[in-house]
Amino acid sequence: MSMTRIFDTEQMGDEEFVERTLRPQKLNEYIGQDKVKNQLKIFIEAAKLRDEALDHALLFGPPGLGKTTMAFVIANELGVNIKQTSGPVIEKAGDLVAILNDLEPGDVLLIDEIHRMPMAVEEILYSAMEDFYIDIMIGTGEASRAVHLDLPPFTLIGATTRAGMLSNPLRARFGITGHMEYYELDDLTEIVERTADIFEMEITHEAAIELARRSRGTPRIANRLLKRVRDFAQIMGDGLIDDVITDKALSMLDVDREGLDYVDQKILRTMIDLYNGGPVGLGTLSVNIAEERDTVEDMYEPYLIQKGFIMRTRTGRVATTKAYEHLGYPYEKK
Ligand SMILES: Nc1ncnc2c1ncn2[C@@H]1O[C@H](COP(=O)(O)OP(=O)(O)OP(=O)(O)O)[C@@H](O)[C@H]1O
Ligand SMILES: [Mg+2]
Repeated sequence: MSMTRIFDTEQMGDEEFVERTLRPQKLNEYIGQDKVKNQLKIFIEAAKLRDEALDHALLFGPPGLGKTTMAFVIANELGVNIKQTSGPVIEKAGDLVAILNDLEPGDVLLIDEIHRMPMAVEEILYSAMEDFYIDIMIGTGEASRAVHLDLPPFTLIGATTRAGMLSNPLRARFGITGHMEYYELDDLTEIVERTADIFEMEITHEAAIELARRSRGTPRIANRLLKRVRDFAQIMGDGLIDDVITDKALSMLDVDREGLDYVDQKILRTMIDLYNGGPVGLGTLSVNIAEERDTVEDMYEPYLIQKGFIMRTRTGRVATTKAYEHLGYPYEKK
């Protein structure tokens, strides 16, 4: 396994660079997610007091809500190193053994998309997490032998967009679980203003609120839209980001008044136009709008459900009255 593939920063894209720049370092700089934060604060303090590794923690929630950010904050608060990898990157058991073997006492190992680890790899984790050792087979055939390897106490942080796809034995080995939620309006507004501050953009408070309101409760989206709105402000105005420019820019970007983007709107339209509002299965829906099923399930559906545009029923997804009203369609009771 090449470690460079995991820690490569040269191929880091622009967005990733921006994200790193914006990452808060400490818990008290981390805006929102108070429930997760308050829990962690106590567990981190206790672990430090006892001079032990923090219990393993599972963070779950939709993309862009700050799971990776939180993992880095945790390591920072603990004052330990963090190694980052992701489920699909660890192909063989040996890949994971190499990573585990490299840990120092107390280190944090972050596994992103932990629900996408191969089973043979996952099984290695069981004893590693529970009792800090692994038993591996070395060599093949007659020459093969079992090797027992002790590991330093470490903290595994698993991040996943799909809590439901984690196996029970794996889930049971996490002592701490943090459920990340879509951000409240005032927290997201604060995040927008913080980002503007860091990049020295001028934005009015009203504009920050409007941007936050239309960012699907998600910091990654808020930061991305802020950059685009700034472009508009520079070209169409004098650089100041106010609510008028923000509204114009977001409308041109197909982000509607409820913060639904082009794909959200397409999902609702398809459900209503082609399936009479549902019920329709997620697979069918995804094919119709030409998006990956996983993307729809991880990114789009949870927000549409939370905002009351879609309901999940036993027979499929159903568009609600709110969806009809929002799109300006007459609602016919079925
Ligand atoms: N609470 C926060 N305060 C300030 N910025 C935040 C906060 N949470 C997230 N961000 C910013 O949002 C961006 C996305 O966060 P992050 O990469 O941690 O999300 P994620 O949950 O790991 O997403 P994914 O599921 O795609 O891996 C980062 O730029 C980060 O700086
Ligand atoms: Mg992440």
